[in-house]
Amino acid sequence: MTTIGFIGAGHIGGTLAQLAITQGYDVVVSNSRGPETLTDLVDQLGDRARAGTSAEAAEAGDVVVVTIPTKNVKDVPVEPLAGKVVIDTNNYYPQRDGQIPALDDESTTVSELLQTHLPTSHVVKAFNHITSADLATQGAPAGTPDRRALAVAGDSDDARAAVAELIDELGFDTVDVGPLAEGWRYQRDTAAYVQRFDADGLRAALARAVRYRDM
Ligand SMILES: NC(=O)c1ccc[n+]([C@@H]2O[C@H](COP(=O)([O-])OP(=O)(O)OC[C@H]3O[C@@H](n4cnc5c(N)ncnc54)[C@H](OP(=O)(O)O)[C@@H]3O)[C@@H](O)[C@H]2O)c1
Repeated sequence: MTTIGFIGAGHIGGTLAQLAITQGYDVVVSNSRGPETLTDLVDQLGDRARAGTSAEAAEAGDVVVVTIPTKNVKDVPVEPLAGKVVIDTNNYYPQRDGQIPALDDESTTVSELLQTHLPTSHVVKAFNHITSADLATQGAPAGTPDRRALAVAGDSDDARAAVAELIDELGFDTVDVGPLAEGWRYQRDTAAYVQRFDADGLRAALARAVRYRDM
């Protein structure tokens, strides 16, 4: 795995791209307005970065990160992501995304929506429960006492393992939450959401998660 594609190059996409470059990855970043609007970011990221369309970022990535407002998930290109590991950082904020009935009635979850849109990709929910500022500053080498942990959920064991390895390289422990349907345990407003925990603390926070309908 050498290239990470980014669909979305804002707070989280830009921060993750920087961390990935620091670890020796190449990145292809994209947004909704076109590669010509990403010149400043690419200049900042340096030689390992280039900008493309979303389809080009999807095509180029060995792993691809989708990091956009949830309301725009329908725009994510499907065919170039076939068979790939796709990391979903997205959260649901109705004030930004509008009301999405299937999320309001909890008949699905944010990352399962992306998985439904990308039926042959291997979606892993990750990086949604850490702020971009903390992502930029809280990474630490493996073995550091009290190292911050991030959760991974996904329906493919291999994809979860690959993303856990990437997260370790980027400076964080992981807690494996299992299938994508369990991703609600670290969605917006849960105990694990944007709070700093090591692996034991995160496991405890995930265990006491409450669904929106029970809040
Ligand atoms: N900010 C955080 O600390 C944080 C933490 C964890 C998770 N999240 C979640 O992660 C996602 C991204 O958050 P963010 O804060 O990085 O957002 P952001 O700073 O607003 O950036 C969003 C990015 O998505 C791009 N985008 C929007 N619609 C698109 C489309 N249809 N196709 C391709 N690119 C598109 C935007 O491009 P244009 O500017 O060209 O439209 C922009 O580059 C959200 O779901 C958010 O809730 C955020």
